[in-house]
Amino acid sequence: MSLKNTYILGIESSCDDTAAAVLLNGEILSNVVASQAIHESYGGVVPELASRAHQQNIVPVVDQALQKAGVSTTDLDAVAFTQGPGLMGSLLVGTSFAKSLAYGLEIPLIDVNHMQAHILAHFIEEDGYNKPPFPFIAMTISGGHTQIVRVDDYFKMTVIGETIDDAVGEAFDKSGKILGLGYPAGPEIDKRAKLGNPKAFKFTKPKVKGLNFSFSGLKTAILYFVQKQVKENPQFIKENLNDICASIQYTIVGILMDKLKLAVSETGINHIAIGGGVSANSGIRYALKKAESQHGWTSYLPAFEFTTDNAAMIAIVGYLKFQKKQYADQSIMASSRLKI
Ligand code: KG4
Ligand code: ZN
Repeated sequence: MSLKNTYILGIESSCDDTAAAVLLNGEILSNVVASQAIHESYGGVVPELASRAHQQNIVPVVDQALQKAGVSTTDLDAVAFTQGPGLMGSLLVGTSFAKSLAYGLEIPLIDVNHMQAHILAHFIEEDGYNKPPFPFIAMTISGGHTQIVRVDDYFKMTVIGETIDDAVGEAFDKSGKILGLGYPAGPEIDKRAKLGNPKAFKFTKPKVKGLNFSFSGLKTAILYFVQKQVKENPQFIKENLNDICASIQYTIVGILMDKLKLAVSETGINHIAIGGGVSANSGIRYALKKAESQHGWTSYLPAFEFTTDNAAMIAIVGYLKFQKKQYADQSIMASSRLKI
């Protein structure tokens, strides 16, 4: 076996974070993220503004990642980049940059599926972190996706459930908007939920067959509920904000856990890993830890820096593909609807 050190540069630009990371043999040397604050005032990501910001950020972010890692471009063995899914304009910036860099350095170019990366982030080499054994169930929960995936091997993944409308992150963000919270509202709802009563208000869970999810009905139910209450008491939101947030979070976590229970009973697999922005949520993390003693599951919760979009997860997939010599060629294009 070769003992040569492998340096991989990962580049992520699928949505509103421009990120670059350098990994040495799967271990992080640097992990830099430039988030785009510009979208906050619009209450959501504006695609055209996102791609412009990526163009401004990409060179300084990659430069910073190399500097922090203490490596130069000539040390790199490969450049890995997010091919999709994501916003086309955003993806194009990272894709073009990665292609040119790999071409100029005459090193392999490696395409990465962003959703696979959220799952394979669990394989970043970290002291004291237990990696999930194959097969395991992964639940990717973010602002753009909600999927349950059966993972039989690094690149043998099957989507066994997904949302038929909104993603779970959107359920948090849109509920937050109804309550007058800023964008993205997920972290704020989480913070307030810790101070409120989760059983103060009851929202009906959607009835969707099998392992699929639906969140748009919940958003509408919350909207009608709040409108009705505010009619009776204009101060309703202000006076009950923590309880409303706790109740919303309790309902959403309940929906996620119900589907996971079904996935475990259908597959017989009880190793559960989560990924994506919503995997930072304290409610789902607590529920999964509790399920260890309650149901005998083993749960794998990513470190907070790997929950939201980052390039270390892109670089680890690059490292895994590099070992198999699965390279892309210069004809590769960004793919906004790339599937697992
Ligand atoms: O994975 P991500 O950074 O971007 C993509 O959507 O791909 O996820 C962002 C989403 C947003 O909807 C945000 O509100 C949500 O993750 N989020 C949270 C928390 N932290 C981030 N939702 C609930 N609780 C949190 N602590
Ligand atoms: Zn993501």
